[in-house]
Amino acid sequence: MSNNIIDAPLTPKRVQSVYDFLSPFYEYLTRYESLSKERGLDVANIRRGDAFFEAGFGTGQIVIASAVRVGKEGHVYGLDVSSKMLKKTRKRVKMYKLTKRVDLQLGDARILPYTTGVFDVVFTSYLLDLIDTSAISCVLQEFKRVLKPGGRLVIVNMSKGDSRSSTMKLYEWFYRRCPSLFGGCRPVVIKPFLEALRFQHVKRERILAGHVIPSEIVWGDKPK
Ligand SMILES: C[S@@+](CC[C@H](N)C(=O)[O-])C[C@H]1O[C@@H](n2cnc3c(N)ncnc32)[C@H](O)[C@@H]1O
Repeated sequence: MSNNIIDAPLTPKRVQSVYDFLSPFYEYLTRYESLSKERGLDVANIRRGDAFFEAGFGTGQIVIASAVRVGKEGHVYGLDVSSKMLKKTRKRVKMYKLTKRVDLQLGDARILPYTTGVFDVVFTSYLLDLIDTSAISCVLQEFKRVLKPGGRLVIVNMSKGDSRSSTMKLYEWFYRRCPSLFGGCRPVVIKPFLEALRFQHVKRERILAGHVIPSEIVWGDKPK
């Protein structure tokens, strides 16, 4: 199932400190990813009244956009390992006056603190590309567990490009030497994992983030 995905060697503790450190300028550094995240939100097909969960919300751009879409009747939940990201996103939610419909907490996507079958949509962007290959299935199983039957999982991440392209090979070469320089993120291919976990209607779209970095948007539905 590894699809030639290279290891992600940063420990959860190290990931936490890297993202605490990156939190003040993370949004500026990754502004080229906004197109892929917007497309992820489109395919999430959020409706008013939905219960929406985001794992690894970072600076909270998707938290705000989804809270607007679910409306007063809906609710947004989010989980992140970085206390600095949590602080930043809470501030943003307050600024947008959305505190009544948003619940954020510190935690690890490997063990979700939610009961089974509670969310209409589970969303994550640029998180699975920093989870070690051996733990990807476990995280996806947790996402499936907390989804309602018929609920949708949407994943956006850095991916592998065209096999002839040398950009990502070069990226992987540097990543192997200094993974924290890249926020722990390396290219992954997630569709086969969703198929193995028997999600339905699984689809994948590729997009070039910032015209250079291959990203993928992968989505599928939990069987009813
Ligand atoms: C690459 S950033 C992406 C942030 C945001 N989703 C975006 O696309 O802008 C990864 C985020 O996931 C968080 N994170 C990393 N590992 C995590 C884990 N195991 N569980 C929950 N959050 C995690 C990091 O703290 C960081 O905020």
